[in-house]
Amino acid sequence: MLIAAIELGLRQRTPSMCQIPTYLTQVATGLEKGLSIGVDLGGTNLRVCSVELHGDSTSDILHTQVRIPPELMVAKASHDLFSFIARQIQDFLVKFHLAFIQDAKSDAHDQYFALGFTFSFPVYQSAINSGVLLNWTKGFDIPDTINQDVCQLLQREIDLLELPVRVTALVNDAAGTIISRAYGLPLSRTRPTIGAIFGTGTNGVYLESLSEITKTIDGDYDRSTGKMFMSTEWGSFDNKLSVLPVTPYDTELNEHSVNPGNQMFEKRVSGMFLGELLRLAVLQVYYDDGLGLFRDDTGKSNTDDFNRGAPLHTRWKVDSSILSVAEADNSELLPALREKIHVSFGVPRDSVSVRDAQVVKIIAHAIGTRAARLAGMAVGSVIVQSQLLDETHHVAAGLEATRETIVDVAVDGSVVEHYPGFEQYMRESLRALEQIGVEKESRISIGHAKDGSSVGAAIIALLAAEQVVPNSTHL
Ligand code: BGC
Repeated sequence: MLIAAIELGLRQRTPSMCQIPTYLTQVATGLEKGLSIGVDLGGTNLRVCSVELHGDSTSDILHTQVRIPPELMVAKASHDLFSFIARQIQDFLVKFHLAFIQDAKSDAHDQYFALGFTFSFPVYQSAINSGVLLNWTKGFDIPDTINQDVCQLLQREIDLLELPVRVTALVNDAAGTIISRAYGLPLSRTRPTIGAIFGTGTNGVYLESLSEITKTIDGDYDRSTGKMFMSTEWGSFDNKLSVLPVTPYDTELNEHSVNPGNQMFEKRVSGMFLGELLRLAVLQVYYDDGLGLFRDDTGKSNTDDFNRGAPLHTRWKVDSSILSVAEADNSELLPALREKIHVSFGVPRDSVSVRDAQVVKIIAHAIGTRAARLAGMAVGSVIVQSQLLDETHHVAAGLEATRETIVDVAVDGSVVEHYPGFEQYMRESLRALEQIGVEKESRISIGHAKDGSSVGAAIIALLAAEQVVPNSTHL
């Protein structure tokens, strides 16, 4: 069904899994050179970086990162958020590139930094540097940004600060991850053609043949490679819940989210939601007196403080890091998990028994492995759709089909980075997919591109600004 949704999005503009053209038509080779800026508005942090590419797969990266103030995620006006971003860019430039700013001001030449803006929300692109926001995800909700060109919103604020910066590329984080990994790989290695984010939110971007994209792609773009990276927006897969698993906790979480009925796949897979799912499931056990969870020796429940204001009793207060601790702690007495339960749920230390921790571990494992297996299913569906493992397809395309043919997947995000064994559980799904199976799964490589989205954005900004001549690729 996911494959059908991927295909449908190539034919028409769909309300969910909308298959957004990225206007990115090739991967980096590692030979690119230049200096540019990347700005990454993710779900939790705002990262600003400058990347100097040396043209030999190496680079120098400088960066700053701040947590996005929660009030800006639901600000009254776009200006509040975008002026905050512009000020972070200004602070970054003053800190690391003051001479450039001063030269640009005094110089008659039109000197500017090319900036790649990673805006990790569903934005329908109409050019490499323009796109309108379709809807917010991941807890953001600023109504007046909808249908606005987010590059223009940012450029306006940058211009108000008179910074020598031009937004030359709009980038999805999964696309940035692909490009960042591709730049750093040795020339002989297969380039990634799929990028996936499993962080606060989730999404997949992959390389599609232009001949398969039958819906209209607006504006101008490079047709010479015959390909374009498409952003699946798989976070909104199966919003009608025809095939996704549904527990009472999924239902309750969805009802209390800022976007009920949307991003149903994301709500089962990504970091923004896993902690809340665990909280809801553990709470159910806690309320069952007979089960005695978090009770003291006399069987009574805990202090008033714990009962009233504790994170265990407060929506969205438990973040997903507790699932990683639960998965990682395999010791007999579970000391790390017991401490984490105290910190994350607010249960008094002496009320967390080994048995309590075992209960939390079982529930957390169920939620974490379900997420990873769903993630593997999404990656697998994209691999099947892109036909890269399909030898018949390779022969038909005149390429040599060898046993070693591999598909490279670039991944990033807190969940895939920190949840122990996430990749292995994903691989279980890949093997279980009929069209992939055990033998083909072994020809898929999965590589982590840490902070790839901001670095990738800077590289794409350079390519888009035509400050480098892109070299031929190794797809
Ligand atoms: C957004 C995607 C983004 C993903 C990962 C989702 O909520 O819709 O555009 O790529 O999160 O950050």
